Amino acid sequence: MEQVTLGVIGAGRIAHVMCDAYAELPQAKLLAVTDVNRAAADTVKSKYGMEKVYATYEELLADDAIHAVVICTPTPTHAAITIKAAEAGKHIFCQKPMALTLEDCDAMVAAVKNAGVVLQIGFMLRFTPPFGEAKKWLDEGEIGDVVGITSSLFGWVPSADWFYDPKIGGGVLIDSLSHTFDLFRWYNGDFATVYASGGAFVLDGAKRYGTADNVMAHFRFRNGTMGNLYGSWTSGYGDLTVQVYGTNGTISIDLMEKQGGSFYIRNRRNESSRPQGWSNMGILWKYGYQGEARHFINTLLGKAKPMPTGEEGREAIRALLLASKSMRTGKIMKL
Ligand SMILES: NC(=O)c1ccc[n+]([C@@H]2O[C@H](COP(=O)([O-])OP(=O)(O)OC[C@H]3O[C@@H](n4cnc5c(N)ncnc54)[C@H](O)[C@@H]3O)[C@@H](O)[C@H]2O)c1
Repeated sequence: MEQVTLGVIGAGRIAHVMCDAYAELPQAKLLAVTDVNRAAADTVKSKYGMEKVYATYEELLADDAIHAVVICTPTPTHAAITIKAAEAGKHIFCQKPMALTLEDCDAMVAAVKNAGVVLQIGFMLRFTPPFGEAKKWLDEGEIGDVVGITSSLFGWVPSADWFYDPKIGGGVLIDSLSHTFDLFRWYNGDFATVYASGGAFVLDGAKRYGTADNVMAHFRFRNGTMGNLYGSWTSGYGDLTVQVYGTNGTISIDLMEKQGGSFYIRNRRNESSRPQGWSNMGILWKYGYQGEARHFINTLLGKAKPMPTGEEGREAIRALLLASKSMRTGKIMKL
């Protein structure tokens, strides 16, 4: 196979980002799209010069010309679509979070294994240059043994109501912090304990559904490293910081531009405008999504190994579900 033919399932916000990324790759061809909202699918078809629109994902999966699918639908649909795609012999790029239950994650992993197809989960931080570089440094012992890791993630206010719903999106913890949980595990190995607290401090959607729009979590890893993170949908405007402290030095990644010496105020008068003083480097958009798309295509062409796998996506969900339980019970959870 010299070119991978793709079908896109779900044509909402992230589908445009993923299509931008795949459209840049000569070894990928965006062939078909489907969405329960026909207008959304038609928009993606014409924007990316695709040949076909299907009314359902089952019809798309029956197209023999499609080698792989890019799943961009709301989280609870990921399991059923992945399982059917695997049964149809398609390779799968699935957006994060992988699913909302461990049972769904396990069924996805089993289906992919039975079918012998590739499943890559959309953790694009791993493919965003500073984070991949940091992983190499950590593995090579550049900063000695890791003592602690900390991160702040500044998400945007969700684009749709379902992100707040615990049965569909799971709030900022499950939806957005899945990225940081995966990154922390990638750097430090398995979690041993997690304690999380959070709440619906600002957003009406979070208050209505009783999910969190701001979360803090504290970890201990199996290797003894300490970790903590903050994640918010309301106190910033995109991007994140990560610091790793070792016995021999520190790695510091800050994707906010001009942060040093700057003074940032978020005023909530105009929700859709960039807050005064906030500016990020756009590096995730420029490199992260394209990096993960390139990796998926290279894996299918036999030039790379699958990463992040379904098993890794599942481990992030396992820790996130325990963090969610910790938030509800106030207890430290053991993994
Ligand atoms: N990696 C990232 O940074 C990132 C960013 C945003 C969203 N996401 C993830 O991507 C997924 C989608 O998020 P989004 O922001 O694009 O949501 P969205 O609501 O903008 O789009 C989802 C689309 O899926 C369609 N859809 C729903 N059920 C369907 C089905 N059964 N078959 C076909 N289409 C269906 C909807 O009509 C909608 O157009 C979520 O899991 C989300 O967590 C990841």
